[in-house]
Amino acid sequence: MSAPHLGHLFHPDNARDYTRGISEALDLLVDKLDTLDGPTTGLSPEVAAKPVDEVDLDTPLTDGAAALAEVSRLWLDDAVWFHDPSYAAHLNCPVVIPALVGELLMSAVNTSMDTFDQSVGATFMERRLVDWTAARAGYPEPTRDGIFTSGGSQSNLQALLLARGEAERRGVPVDRLRFLTSADSHFSIAKSARLLGMGEDAAISVPTDADHRMDVAALRKALDDCVVDGLVPAAVVATAGTTDFGVIDPLHAIAEACQDFNVWFHVDAAYGGGLLVSPRYRHLLDGIERSDSVTVDYHKTWFQPVSSSALLVRDRASLQHASWYADYLNPRESENPNQVDKSLQTTRRFDALKLWLTLRTMGADQIGAYLESVIDLAREVYDVLSLQPDIELVTPSQLSTVVFRYADPHLGSTGLDDAAVCELNRRIRAEMWSGGRSVVAATKVDGRQFLKLTLLNPKASLQDILDIIEQVRTLGLTLGRAVPEVAR
Ligand SMILES: Cc1ncc(COP(=O)(O)O)c(C=O)c1O
Repeated sequence: MSAPHLGHLFHPDNARDYTRGISEALDLLVDKLDTLDGPTTGLSPEVAAKPVDEVDLDTPLTDGAAALAEVSRLWLDDAVWFHDPSYAAHLNCPVVIPALVGELLMSAVNTSMDTFDQSVGATFMERRLVDWTAARAGYPEPTRDGIFTSGGSQSNLQALLLARGEAERRGVPVDRLRFLTSADSHFSIAKSARLLGMGEDAAISVPTDADHRMDVAALRKALDDCVVDGLVPAAVVATAGTTDFGVIDPLHAIAEACQDFNVWFHVDAAYGGGLLVSPRYRHLLDGIERSDSVTVDYHKTWFQPVSSSALLVRDRASLQHASWYADYLNPRESENPNQVDKSLQTTRRFDALKLWLTLRTMGADQIGAYLESVIDLAREVYDVLSLQPDIELVTPSQLSTVVFRYADPHLGSTGLDDAAVCELNRRIRAEMWSGGRSVVAATKVDGRQFLKLTLLNPKASLQDILDIIEQVRTLGLTLGRAVPEVAR
């Protein structure tokens, strides 16, 4: 057994074994980083599944080094690396070092955030960060509050639970309640309606304008229609940074509509929440201060490792809709500050430590500067691509996405029809994945296939991204010759 220190409980008597184990794991990681050649190796699901299936989980490896080698073979060797400038697919960010240090500490101590008697100072560190973020969103003292969550989907779910709770308090039956959100909002909104027992029809999709931002006239009409039909709008969800286009719904105009119809106003700023620390682009969130709740994902535009998110609320009284008291954990009469009273989770990670260490070492402005650099990069990329006749663009982003496709008008003898262009771009993406040199995402716009770059790497240069486009073009030219026969 070459590394016996991996095989027992963490304890003061063997804490040095932990540091040795971590040190070996870090050596493995750093050696891996030294040999990387692209953001992925591009395995297919079948190839990735086979060696995992073959592991006999009933028979442990007796050697820690062998276990690390196995993990390397099954995962690290073919992992997807978000720090690589050729990774430009989903909303994943490279992560900052102080947050990684926080991960190590918090998992070894295993602090749980549910009650004060499991967390002590951690409770107050989380509360300070929630209060600090809510203040940046412009929520007033002393009512503002919130809670860390596992991610944007959970933050949105909790926001809608609170909105539903407020409407129910006014005596409205659940089956008459509706949420209104733009056609380009994240799927977690409609899914939340289902999870909350309201049915998918309870999420009304509001059309967007030409820039893919919520059409406020259409919102007002939808709110009117609800009233005429005897339905009750329980929440309007604006998106501050849509997943595909990175655009921000008109927050002030939506706030006004919510005021007129007396509706809860939630802002899903899972993507755009990083603007709260951007000196140059904070104004893009103007109007957020008029909302009732906000989702902020630190694990997107704050460069934190997964998981790290928060739900912020204007009025802490609304959090009671998530409360439950148990004699064995958080009795109603307890005078302790128990975070579980505000949370959908019970046992919960001390994710706040990562953000705390980040702010205390790097500072908020540095995080904001990272976000600003990727926003600037996306603008530059859009401007360059708009001059290239074989690239079709959709709409400029206010954040850091670029939705585009390869559509050379001269491909084929008469050019390609739309179905063929869709098929061609699907194939380009598949080939890029298996080639492993770069990773892009895909989406559909009005049913038509597009590719998407999500730029969240402050170290990526314009040239890095133009190299990705060049790969798209080269593949487009090669594959384009074969596509028309197949697609038509
Ligand atoms: C606008 C928006 N809201 C919510 C989410 C969900 O966040 P999470 O993946 O952290 O659950 C996403 C994820 O991309 C998003 O883009």
